[in-house]
Amino acid sequence: MRLASKKVIVTGGASGIGRSICNIFASEGASIVIADIDESGSHETSAQIESAGGKSLAVTTDVSSDESVSDMIKKASDFLGGIDILVNDAAAFIFGKVEDVTQKDWETVFGVNVIGASSTVKHSLPYLKQSTSPNIVNIASVSGFIAQPSFVPYNASKGALLQLTRCLAMDLSEFNIRVNAVCPGAIYTPATERHIAFEKADRDEFLEKAGQTSFLKRVGTPEEVAYAALFLASDEASFITGSHLVVDGGATV
Ligand SMILES: NC(=O)c1ccc[n+]([C@@H]2O[C@H](COP(=O)([O-])OP(=O)(O)OC[C@H]3O[C@@H](n4cnc5c(N)ncnc54)[C@H](O)[C@@H]3O)[C@@H](O)[C@H]2O)c1
Repeated sequence: MRLASKKVIVTGGASGIGRSICNIFASEGASIVIADIDESGSHETSAQIESAGGKSLAVTTDVSSDESVSDMIKKASDFLGGIDILVNDAAAFIFGKVEDVTQKDWETVFGVNVIGASSTVKHSLPYLKQSTSPNIVNIASVSGFIAQPSFVPYNASKGALLQLTRCLAMDLSEFNIRVNAVCPGAIYTPATERHIAFEKADRDEFLEKAGQTSFLKRVGTPEEVAYAALFLASDEASFITGSHLVVDGGATV
């Protein structure tokens, strides 16, 4: 029960890594609000939590809309009775080289991955300031500090999210709010399937190649990322802020 009685919001909790964070945080005693644009996926995650005996609420949210985020935070704080922990996991995946992507693509990816994260923080702040152990975990990526082929807008956004993490850690320290990031490497999720489709790749070959880049010769699981987020969100990480934890099987060492 490493998060006993904690009040948590997870954006992007309808799928993949976000869903795993919701389930693992709930199993550690947290109450969870799932804030995701995918209504049915959010309800599915909520049902998983409830059937395991946890407490959760799904709030359909577009994190790139300030109004939608403001509305979600009101519903979340009413349901939870405050906010202790915010996990920014929602992401738009837009692949391509610079000549492939449109202005709208750039606005979408930064709107969700960077401005969306900033917006959830801004609207959560009045509640986080009242918490006794408040913190924020941003799900960034190793894509935030390495180059990868045909990943221009996504990688640029994850680099910005890492900088947002550091700047928030500095500015929010006066309220004792810790802000950290997790940087996953290749993790098998529904987003991986979309990437395979984008590349028109053979699934097994794609996963084999992705796994070979790590020391451990495999891709990671959402649970392996969720446990890193759990550590940073828990009181065990009470002297860690402005930091990022890489979960990539050694791929970027
Ligand atoms: N899968 C990987 O290999 C990998 C690697 C590094 C980092 N990450 C990061 O992990 C996080 C989760 O990725 P995943 O692989 O689980 O992907 P995923 O597609 O399974 O989950 C992403 C979730 O974000 C939600 N979302 C998208 N746009 C949204 C919006 N505007 N408002 C609210 N929710 C929105 C989606 O509906 C989805 O539920 C992302 O931040 C991603 O960048 C993933």
